[in-house]
Amino acid sequence: MKILVVGGGGREHAIIKKLKQSPKVTEIFAAPGNGGIAQDAVCVDIKATDIQGITEFAQKEKMDFVVVAPDDPLVLGMVDVLAEKGIPAFGPRKGAAQIEGSKVFSKNLMKKYGIPTADYAVFEDAKTAMEYIQNRGEYPVVIKADGLALGKGVLICETEQQAKDGLKSMMEDKIFGQSGTTVVVEEFLTGPEVSVLSFTDGKTIKPMISSMDHKRALDEDEGLNTGGMGTVAPNPYYTPEVAQQCMDSIFLPTIRAMEQEGCPFTGCLYFGLMLTPKGPKVIEYNCRFGDPETQVVLPLLQSDLMDIMQATTNGTLEQTEVVFSKENAACVILASGGYPQKYQTGKVIFGLAEGQLADGSALVYHAGTKQTENGLETAGGRVLGITAVAPSLQQAVEKAYQAADRISFEGLHRRSDIGKRALAAHKQ
Ligand code: AMP
Ligand code: GLY
Repeated sequence: MKILVVGGGGREHAIIKKLKQSPKVTEIFAAPGNGGIAQDAVCVDIKATDIQGITEFAQKEKMDFVVVAPDDPLVLGMVDVLAEKGIPAFGPRKGAAQIEGSKVFSKNLMKKYGIPTADYAVFEDAKTAMEYIQNRGEYPVVIKADGLALGKGVLICETEQQAKDGLKSMMEDKIFGQSGTTVVVEEFLTGPEVSVLSFTDGKTIKPMISSMDHKRALDEDEGLNTGGMGTVAPNPYYTPEVAQQCMDSIFLPTIRAMEQEGCPFTGCLYFGLMLTPKGPKVIEYNCRFGDPETQVVLPLLQSDLMDIMQATTNGTLEQTEVVFSKENAACVILASGGYPQKYQTGKVIFGLAEGQLADGSALVYHAGTKQTENGLETAGGRVLGITAVAPSLQQAVEKAYQAADRISFEGLHRRSDIGKRALAAHKQ
């Protein structure tokens, strides 16, 4: 099979490396890919959001299957357009991608179908939102932009002043553009967070191994929210009992609800969960694989990813094997200094040969890299994800850091405590 993967980050690199292991897959293309993906796939210079460009390329090159990995082309309806041209694609249709594309849609869905989530209210003007927050008088309070905001559309406000400033920046200054025209004001929840990615064909849902993201830029969960600075899998808080509770009260009800609403979800549905004292609740849904969750989840997948992806589009997931290894994985992100704010690019990366570690002791997933005449250079905020797999979490974390120590570039920033909280939970 000839496969096109849309996107160009660490998540896409992890998907491509796993697809390469499938005996069915003969050729992989990536649009746009990156400097490291180029070692594993043919990169074509088409933007991930260019629906027409991607569709024309897929038709011209006679792709057998397209994997649409990022949120924005999914929300824009790329899978629908590909399907119209008879090209099967992994990922939800536009209607189903709303589960991530609109917080109002997802919150209303959960309310209607009794799926546990934080209490909330929706507002279209800042004044009414502020009155509601003042009357409620409980802090912290959470304010979320309705639309996609590059993972930055969530504000946790500790004081009334912060809430005022937050509403102003979203609704009046429009720092997230049209995404902030409508906002959701939400109750603040507490408890350990768990990411669960799942495969679904709209009727059957098969969760992948659980994982834990580290979203803040600095150690001890300090600093700004980022796309994710590292991950571990499995997540020790996600016990078999919690998993069963989530299946019964969240996963199956969500799939049924989407079917009932006339927009069955196919592809990878990501559940961002919080294990609150009152049970697991949904913090957010994503309509795609997480980044960098994918970089720890897929290395542990033992079944054929191509078979599973096809099953989600053919409606045959029930009969398809989805098996994970019993090992542990840890991923440490190497970022450009300054990320998630201003950072420099074009720094030469040392320590890699053809994009990988010479001894293969860890997997190197490229996120923001570019091949130039000087060799491999940085080209984004998150640059590389270093993943190690081992029988224990402790070993996986150590192995990932040992490998990460051998890679350098000017201004490199990474967290030094990926997996620390998970290891402490193991000891409890
Ligand atoms: P998101 O961009 O939706 O992933 O949210 C970013 C982070 O904000 C989440 O990972 C949580 O840590 C936090 N968060 C979002 N909603 C809530 C909430 N209702 N209560 C507490 N924390 C939240
Ligand atoms: N790592 C969080 C996300 O992919 O949204």
